[in-house]
Amino acid sequence: MLIRKVETFTPTHLELLLSADPNKELVEEYIKRSFCFESLDDGHVTGIVVLLPTRPETLEIVNIAVLEQFQGQGIGEQLISFALTQAKEHSYKTVEIGTGSTSFGQLYLYQKCGFRMTGIDRDFFIRHYDEEILENKLVLKDMVRLSIDV
Ligand code: ACO
Repeated sequence: MLIRKVETFTPTHLELLLSADPNKELVEEYIKRSFCFESLDDGHVTGIVVLLPTRPETLEIVNIAVLEQFQGQGIGEQLISFALTQAKEHSYKTVEIGTGSTSFGQLYLYQKCGFRMTGIDRDFFIRHYDEEILENKLVLKDMVRLSIDV
């Protein structure tokens, strides 16, 4: 599997970004300030990871997604591992990630990769998203924030 910088955004990249974050305006705003990388299988894009410098020495994974037909094959884990290596190589000290409190699979994955919970942004999804988000039969309201020192 190859992971490289995204040079030109295609509809597949947009589909991936929106599968992780349905707020198109927010996505379009943060990708301008971020480093975006894509995973490729046989020349075809399979996933994306977006890294945003937020504070001195801190990088946030603001978006990570794998196309549905490629999920469950370890690509997400490899994208996270790649992000942590990038952070280390560029002298960042901490990598953060935020996800919905109802995103149980994602919370499992991030903790499997060594992230620890740091806080909860209550009502984040009520404040920032126009439409109600239902996930795992629950209304998504709160963002769980996690971090790892690299
Ligand atoms: N539900 C259940 N388990 C999951 C999920 C999930 N959504 N995602 C990962 N896992 C588990 C896998 O079962 C696997 O477990 P194992 O190691 O015990 O076998 C482990 O986590 C590693 O999974 P990968 O195969 O590496 O993950 P994958 O390639 O499927 O990518 C991702 C995970 C990116 C979350 C993918 O499911 C996806 O694109 N989901 C939709 C978009 C999304 O929710 N993105 C994250 C939003 S938060 C953010 O962007 C900051």
